[in-house]
Amino acid sequence: MTTPIRVAVTGAGGQIGYALLFRLASGAVFGPDRPVALQLLEITPALPSLNGTIMELDDCAFPLLAGVKASDKPEVAFEGADWVILVGGLPRKDGMSRADLIRANGPIFTGQGKAINDAAGPDVRILTVANPCNTNALIARSHAPKVPADRWFAMTRLDQNRAASQLAQKAGVPVASVKKMTIWGNHSDTQYPDYKNAEIGGSPAPNVIGDDAWFADTFIPTVAKRGGAVIKARGASSAASAANAALDSVRSLFVPTPAGDWFSAGVVSDGSYGIPEGLIYSFPLVSKGESRWSVVQGLPIDDDARKRLDASAAELASERDAVKDLLGPAA
Ligand code: NAI
Repeated sequence: MTTPIRVAVTGAGGQIGYALLFRLASGAVFGPDRPVALQLLEITPALPSLNGTIMELDDCAFPLLAGVKASDKPEVAFEGADWVILVGGLPRKDGMSRADLIRANGPIFTGQGKAINDAAGPDVRILTVANPCNTNALIARSHAPKVPADRWFAMTRLDQNRAASQLAQKAGVPVASVKKMTIWGNHSDTQYPDYKNAEIGGSPAPNVIGDDAWFADTFIPTVAKRGGAVIKARGASSAASAANAALDSVRSLFVPTPAGDWFSAGVVSDGSYGIPEGLIYSFPLVSKGESRWSVVQGLPIDDDARKRLDASAAELASERDAVKDLLGPAA
């Protein structure tokens, strides 16, 4: 039998966890030939309810599910992991400031970064979903000097999917016609959903939509504030679409990117597009498969886009300053 892919998921008993685990176990991410072993982390009081989810996983009788373990110890949950999906943390509540969230969730990622360093498999990849995901990834990475820079990702895929959906609806075409949708920067209001380099049906999105004012006045704010709008409408943070985006992120890295397209994720900046090195910043990426990826180079960035890219980098630098006391030896 093929060796199972070991996927650790933190916050597995939460809302996103509930929407994520069943699809991971079904083979939706790694394909029909790769068994998956789940290694779930929760805080101690949430373990009994996580156990109920594990009972449901059993009851699905997924042929590809090679095993499930749950723990409240990161070094147990991350043992030998090929992928670690960091979902555990407080979700943003209506009215909670970003600064509050940074200080509430940041400390979780010091210990989890160390545990990834000490216990995860030699090829581990890490996707941070818990917000503020770019800065949480930065904290975790700073405590994991053994894990190379190209293994760390922060999730901006939900923003990419939201942006593609908005463009498709405006153009009146299926969402599959929208390609090359970049989210630059932070998973926050300062992100830049780059409609100028996006394509609809093979043509530049601005030419297809033909309404420049709509992009600045409606499209960018709608994408950037969509998370808050869902919280207001649903009374809870986006969970199913966030879980879906996490799975899309992993799959986009795992399989080769189709020609004529790319995808977005926060990665450790190597200085591409003038973004300060070391920030976890969302770029357009292509994968050769098996999580070997590179940044798409040479995209035109006009003055307006430049300002937006720099503003998001400045926000990430200030978030890094706000958690200076939490950063470890690899910062
Ligand atoms: P939730 O509150 O339903 O679940 C979070 C789970 O994390 C809880 O079960 C909690 O017990 C667990 N947890 C808390 N501290 C933990 C720790 N130290 N170790 C392990 N588990 C821990 O929240 P939900 O809706 O599942 O959201 C999870 C995170 O994902 C939030 O931070 C939220 O802001 C973020 N998110 C990110 C998005 C993105 O696009 N990057 C989109 C939507 C949500």
